[in-house]
Amino acid sequence: MKKELITLAMLAAMVGACRSEKPAEVATVKDHFKNDFLIGAAIPVTHVNGEDPKADSIVTLHFNSIVAENCMKNEKIQPKEGEFFWDDADKFVKYGEDRNMTIIGHALVWHSQLAPWFVVDKDGNKVSPEVLKERMKNHISTVVGRYKGRIKGWDVVNEAIEDDGSYRKSPFYEILGEEFIPLAFEYAHEADPDAELYINDFSMFLPKKREAYVKLVNDLKKRGLRVDGIGMQSHIGMDYPEFDEYEKSIVDFAGTGCDVMITELDMSALPTVQWGANVGDRRDFRKMTPEERKEYFEQFNPYKEGLPEEISVAWNNRMDSVMDLYKKHADKISRVTWWGTQDGMSWKNGFPIPGRTDYPLLFDRNYNMKPFMVKELTNH
Ligand code: XIL
Repeated sequence: MKKELITLAMLAAMVGACRSEKPAEVATVKDHFKNDFLIGAAIPVTHVNGEDPKADSIVTLHFNSIVAENCMKNEKIQPKEGEFFWDDADKFVKYGEDRNMTIIGHALVWHSQLAPWFVVDKDGNKVSPEVLKERMKNHISTVVGRYKGRIKGWDVVNEAIEDDGSYRKSPFYEILGEEFIPLAFEYAHEADPDAELYINDFSMFLPKKREAYVKLVNDLKKRGLRVDGIGMQSHIGMDYPEFDEYEKSIVDFAGTGCDVMITELDMSALPTVQWGANVGDRRDFRKMTPEERKEYFEQFNPYKEGLPEEISVAWNNRMDSVMDLYKKHADKISRVTWWGTQDGMSWKNGFPIPGRTDYPLLFDRNYNMKPFMVKELTNH
């Protein structure tokens, strides 16, 4: 066992050392899975701006799809009414084109990272359904229209359903009711009839959430709307989800006729605080006493100096099983996208508790590939 681990560590170092040139003897992740699914990475603006050349080499070598981590979100791309900020999104799209990648847009209608003006009038009151429809239509047609023919698919609606299967009481829902979802799909399709359209959420393994999405997508399709994919974000942990439930969702989602997409994969190595990935649920330390804060960090941020060997082994074993599940359902899953490249850049270092040191991605902080994937690439 020990010997095997040492060999894996050496191989991992080798892959890391050779990352800028394609080593003849080591397959790339994207080639390895080319008959299974696309391999994607969420890309931050710093990366597109050339500020992280090591991450750039890794993405260029191992990934064939990218998604915008933040730069296409509502508050970034239309921070004020009618004032669109295109610089970052333009660079992101060009980055993908230069590397011949499948480019994914994220996200058109979402309650988080929503520009505050979008749902209120000048007095701060909620806008009427007519005004919100107009704003949604304008936002979607402007953003999707700008990249028409260049973006393969869009996360049209993100996180619309609660864990218990009810509609999230977002401003979109409160103003327009359930109709905001079909409307968003209609507007996106009008703006780029050839673009694929997806619905996306976290904790998709939960039975009530699964049922609600199957019903919702079937209803949208019955109405003649285009829906190509159901995105399972998959911000997962060492003790969730249960594989049976996760698998049931993959199977049931595929049963709607949609592609299943693993859209935001990361697996926290830290003690679980919560399952959900609602950005607004980030813990607020300002409300805690220094003692509480200290206790909290000792309990939930235990690996500040590095991941202990046994935790690393457990993480890699579990990730191995996750990949096995995806491979088993490769006929249903069209894309597996990691929410970032290397551990140091993961949003999980700041969510749900700010200031932790987590180890959730495919490459470690030294840009070395994690052993489970090295094994996958060398054993087959
Ligand atoms: C995250 C980004 O990674 C962070 O940089 C940002 O501060 C908050 O949002 N679900 C989603 C993603 O759909 O857009 C979120 O991304 C993570 C949860």
